[in-house]
Amino acid sequence: MIVLKSDAEIDAMRSAGRLSATLLDLIGDYVKPGVSTLELNDIVHDYTVKHGGIPAPLNYKGFPKSICTSVNEVVCHGIPSSKQKLKEGDIINIDVTSIVDGFHGDTSRMYLVGQNIPPVARRLTEVAHACLFKGIEAVHDGARTGDIGAAIQRYAEGQGFSVVREFVGHGIGRVFHEDPQILHYGQAGKGTRLGPGMVFTIEPMINEGHWKVKVQRDGWTAVTIDNGLSAQWEHTLGIKSDGEVVILTESPLEIAGRPKM
Ligand code: MF3
Ligand code: CO
Ligand code: CO
Repeated sequence: MIVLKSDAEIDAMRSAGRLSATLLDLIGDYVKPGVSTLELNDIVHDYTVKHGGIPAPLNYKGFPKSICTSVNEVVCHGIPSSKQKLKEGDIINIDVTSIVDGFHGDTSRMYLVGQNIPPVARRLTEVAHACLFKGIEAVHDGARTGDIGAAIQRYAEGQGFSVVREFVGHGIGRVFHEDPQILHYGQAGKGTRLGPGMVFTIEPMINEGHWKVKVQRDGWTAVTIDNGLSAQWEHTLGIKSDGEVVILTESPLEIAGRPKM
């Protein structure tokens, strides 16, 4: 069941979206060799609470921390840990979801750790970013979810990478994960028709090698089956009553026109 949002509700969702995005702006300064993923978690957690938000991942279906930190071959849902310190050349996805005024704002970005980044890691990160925007450009009143997936898959595979199948984008609102599912692969013209009142994420996970993932014994950490690298970017979008498509998780820096990557 898709829960449609009024224009007023979509506008209200900007508060959560803006807080999550602001956190991604701010955490960038702390992503350096030697920092632990738990330190990044704690910075985001404390800022969220201080600004009246709730970190949605904490205790969500038993998830133990406030953000997801997914390094190198981790596809998604990496659990922050004091034992995991970032190293020169790592790539990390930081996924932040805040609840403000009862609504969720869900967004993630990649960060490159240090200066010495393997060329393939940088290219994968750039391709995953381009995939998010190929998906966003496919969103129109009357388009279908398959149009989003097809655009992403075509670009990713054309660049020699693969698209994760096991995790998908999702409707979002007062509930973290709502209908519809947004597949990041598939066929144009197929799937749910998009229209006014729909609010959902696009969050393609792009792998260096095979698209398959396996979940580690902690029940959360999803890693590539071949231990190749994985990269992901995420935005929350809404479609207003007049058909306008809005990104609800643009940050102050993005709005100010900072180059996206
Ligand atoms: N933010 C993730 C998403 O994009 C979900 C994280 S659920 C958690 O949907 F429990 F792992 F935090
Ligand atoms: Co999401
Ligand atoms: Co997310």
